[in-house]
Amino acid sequence: MGGSLVNAMAIDVIGIGAGSPAHLTLEGVEALAGVDVVFALDKGDAKADLLDARRAILEAHAPHVELVVVPDPPRDRTPADYGGEVRDWHQARAEVLYDAMARSLRQPAGSRRRGAFLVWGDPSLYDSTLRILDRIRELGAELEVRVIPGITAVQALTAAHATTFNRIGRPVLVTTGRRLGERPAGTDAVVMLDGGAAWLDHAADDEEILWGAYLGTPMETLRRGRVGDVGAELAKLKSDLRAEHGWIMDIYLLRPEGTGAAD
Ligand SMILES: C[S@@+](CC[C@H](N)C(=O)[O-])C[C@H]1O[C@@H](n2cnc3c(N)ncnc32)[C@H](O)[C@@H]1O
Repeated sequence: MGGSLVNAMAIDVIGIGAGSPAHLTLEGVEALAGVDVVFALDKGDAKADLLDARRAILEAHAPHVELVVVPDPPRDRTPADYGGEVRDWHQARAEVLYDAMARSLRQPAGSRRRGAFLVWGDPSLYDSTLRILDRIRELGAELEVRVIPGITAVQALTAAHATTFNRIGRPVLVTTGRRLGERPAGTDAVVMLDGGAAWLDHAADDEEILWGAYLGTPMETLRRGRVGDVGAELAKLKSDLRAEHGWIMDIYLLRPEGTGAAD
């Protein structure tokens, strides 16, 4: 390749919604039409369904796009220093992605290719894509990043239960299963990334749980009830579903003392 290379890379970070292909917004479809290459991390067999979901979106809306799948660097899931391990892992991801982006997007001056990442849900919520792009900048890349918002799992959950995110005048804590125990007493919470059944340890019997798994997919499963009544059964259902499908994604809203008429 002769001549000078264009260093600046144009990247769209497109929220694709949290499970249903119909979650993709018109703005997302429009953005995809202008993209040349989509980058995806291959997270292994258990998450193959998620990669397939991205492939299906590309087939439906942007068959012209080249999909570059980069193997995800390995990660220690039980490290002594959790924060340090996640930082190292993000750094390793930044390096492999920068390499793939440079190979696919750098063009002779005068021409330009646009790259994109398809992000589950919305890029602002428990997703590392934007942080990884910041790291890629620190590695020396010049990036022009545009974000297209998507429907989050939180919205998919509240819609599936036909309920509101917040009760009148009340705050809602958005947290992970790992940190649910730090919730201030009496606070409503949305819990994501729960590898187990944190409600069994950190929710009172009289709280209401509004639970959803595989939202927006044909496997969607919903439950709602008092933790004291449905909590144990729900933990068993979650482990049965994980065994059946090989993976699970679930999210839930906890409402201390349940939903009253004034909520
Ligand atoms: C890494 S976070 C990504 C969140 C995503 N960026 C969003 O905006 O919803 C993954 C967590 O989101 C929740 N989640 C995402 N999609 C879901 C779905 N279809 N059904 C249930 N939970 C989902 C689960 O709590 C899962 O552990």
